[in-house]
Amino acid sequence: METILQSIIDPVKQIDSIERAAAILRAGGLVAFPTETVYGLGANALDRSAVRSIFEAKGRPQDNPLIAHIADYEDLKALSTNIPSQAKALCDRFWPGPLSLVLRSAGLVAPEVTGGLDTVAVRSPAHPIAQALIRSAGVPIAAPSANLSGSPSPTEAAHVWADLHGRIDCLLDGGPCSVGVESTVLDLVSDPPRILRPGGVTLDQIRTICPDAVYDPAVFRKLDAHETARSPGMKYRHYSPKTPVYIVDGPQNLFVQFIREKMKEYSRVAVLGYDEDLPFLSGVRAISYGPADRMDLLAKNLFSALRTLDQFDAQIIFARCPERSDRSAAVENRLMRAAGHQRIQLT
Ligand code: TXA
Ligand code: MG
Repeated sequence: METILQSIIDPVKQIDSIERAAAILRAGGLVAFPTETVYGLGANALDRSAVRSIFEAKGRPQDNPLIAHIADYEDLKALSTNIPSQAKALCDRFWPGPLSLVLRSAGLVAPEVTGGLDTVAVRSPAHPIAQALIRSAGVPIAAPSANLSGSPSPTEAAHVWADLHGRIDCLLDGGPCSVGVESTVLDLVSDPPRILRPGGVTLDQIRTICPDAVYDPAVFRKLDAHETARSPGMKYRHYSPKTPVYIVDGPQNLFVQFIREKMKEYSRVAVLGYDEDLPFLSGVRAISYGPADRMDLLAKNLFSALRTLDQFDAQIIFARCPERSDRSAAVENRLMRAAGHQRIQLT
């Protein structure tokens, strides 16, 4: 595998690296690249065998469709038909950025990208390296997150390296991702528009353009056996450290007391807490993912923290989760899925 260490301060070197990576994509290879949300594992979305190799490298179930990454709204017209007027307004407002739109597919991308659905998810990432790579490749890039299927999404090149070293052709290192959780996936084919996955763009922001937009039920709860997930990705366990995770809700004093009790039961307890919790957790394998009221930092640090926790050799992880709000939805959704929906309420 070729690892290209990007030098942000050396634009000449950077352009050269991006052109080399684009050539690998055009030749059917796999390139991991930074986006503002998480690192993506890219292949030419028009090349069936290249797209198939994404699924092999990740160990990803074949029926879980991929997002096609494009440079801007103009590129959308070739990929989708019956584009609703709301799509244009959303793109004007949020692209490039962390919003993926599910639209009617024009059938241009390889069938492996859409997993056999008649819809396609499309997004224009804001990261300058991602933008340059798409433009240089000259094709839409199919890209899931660049992690092994099931493990936390990668927010640094080192995470990609740990998961996919030896399985891909190139890794572009753009430093840590600024958003840290994946894009919001908004289904514009359903009426009203539905958020299938909360992310960098919130429901309230989307409602400025689509006032009737709603969350899909699978965003905040486990689907019952008889319900089918609208987004195939929703039915898989995700983002999970190998160690079992429980979300623990309640005030800080009860949380600290709870942890001390659990330490009598388990010899190796780990905690994912807030900055404010750490002084009260001396002697505990605890890490923080940010101050309780800084949703931007909690999102940015969450996946990296889950990876670190997995290296603690703990038997069980207890995690603090922000209260439900428009801005906390993405963090809560990822934590709930990391925890397999296991949640304890302290009173
Ligand atoms: O931020 C992101 O979106 C990152 C970066 C790399 O761009 N990508 C990403 O891709 O998170 P992935 O494959 O890990 O997640 C794509 C999600 C999955 O939950 C998938 O089921 C859903 O989008 N999806 C893709 N196409 C769909 C479609 N046609 N209908 C419904 N859901 C779809
Ligand atoms: Mg993923």
